[in-house]
Amino acid sequence: MAYTVPKLTDYSPSALEKSAAECIRALSEEASAVHNDAGLKAFRDRWLARKNGILTQINDLWLKGAPKESKRNAGIRVNELKVRIQELVEGAHVSAAGETAAERIDTSLPGIRRPIGAEHPVLRASREMCAVFQRMGYAIAEGPVVETDYYNFEALNFPPNHPARDTQDTLFIAGQQSKPQRERLLLRTHTSPVQIRTMEKLRPPIRIVIPGVVHRNDPPDASHSPMFHQIEGLAVDTDITFGDLKGTLDHAMKEFFGSSVKTSFRPSFFPFTEPSAELFISCIICGGSGKRDSDPCRPCKQTGWIEILGCGMVDPNVFEFVKDNGYDPRKVSGFAFGMGADRIAMLKYGVDDLQLFFHGDVRFLEQWA
Ligand code: PHE
Repeated sequence: MAYTVPKLTDYSPSALEKSAAECIRALSEEASAVHNDAGLKAFRDRWLARKNGILTQINDLWLKGAPKESKRNAGIRVNELKVRIQELVEGAHVSAAGETAAERIDTSLPGIRRPIGAEHPVLRASREMCAVFQRMGYAIAEGPVVETDYYNFEALNFPPNHPARDTQDTLFIAGQQSKPQRERLLLRTHTSPVQIRTMEKLRPPIRIVIPGVVHRNDPPDASHSPMFHQIEGLAVDTDITFGDLKGTLDHAMKEFFGSSVKTSFRPSFFPFTEPSAELFISCIICGGSGKRDSDPCRPCKQTGWIEILGCGMVDPNVFEFVKDNGYDPRKVSGFAFGMGADRIAMLKYGVDDLQLFFHGDVRFLEQWA
């Protein structure tokens, strides 16, 4: 006999419970008798149709028909029953004849495998390079990507309107003209602003490495991207010399790329270091010969050397901006350096197109899994 919704005379909790249980039993029986798509549709309509479906009937007969003093209790039960009916009806599916609900769940099937993510190669290279410095006693520092003119330029000894600013291809935040220049916002073009921010907070001596994202208005190609990553370093103490800078960076390069790597320092210019240098390492692709078999080595442009970073002794003018926190340029000295994390990742992992790092292609990225 097909189930029909009975009229209730007894609205006590136990009677309601019994009626609800009978209803669910009928529903389960009907659900397991669904053997094709048409049957499934008929089953769903029978239980859920707005007009005269069983759920609607229960609402009318059990809830609307309940005497005033039982309304509250009936309301709670009917609502519970409704949710249960909806769950069961929506969960019903076409089953093979004779199957029971328990057989439909095959506990021997493997579960859903969620692939474990891999660390992105740029972040991995960055973390490994930071770890080299952490082993030498450096701490990690970080700072904001949206930066003020003051920290990105002025306090790093780029005076307002100085042509040295042109080298930075800065992306400015729009609508800042009404602010004083030093408060205007931009996307930081290097991690060097965190040098100043950290020296404002911590008194000397300090040794920090600063990983982070930077932006420049460069069109993307195999070696440029408007968004890339840097690792900055800063050491300040009494009596820090250029010899400390050379020894520290030479050691770091050998730790990171391998002990056979050679380093070479060449004069350069940065407004916030004096003297300044660029550090080259012997090409880790061709070993410094400039050739791969008989072909020219492309990564080092046949020179046998690859530029890795900019560095130098902290310019006394920079210390002037944080003098009140213990950085008297007559008492302390320090060195700083900044390198491209994407670039060292390309070299270390033999990737020849920077854009591959940013396309998010799983086939590329899972090589680091
Ligand atoms: N900030 C410089 C750049 O992005 C690199 C640098 C850092 C140079 C620290 C010297 C000292 O080019």
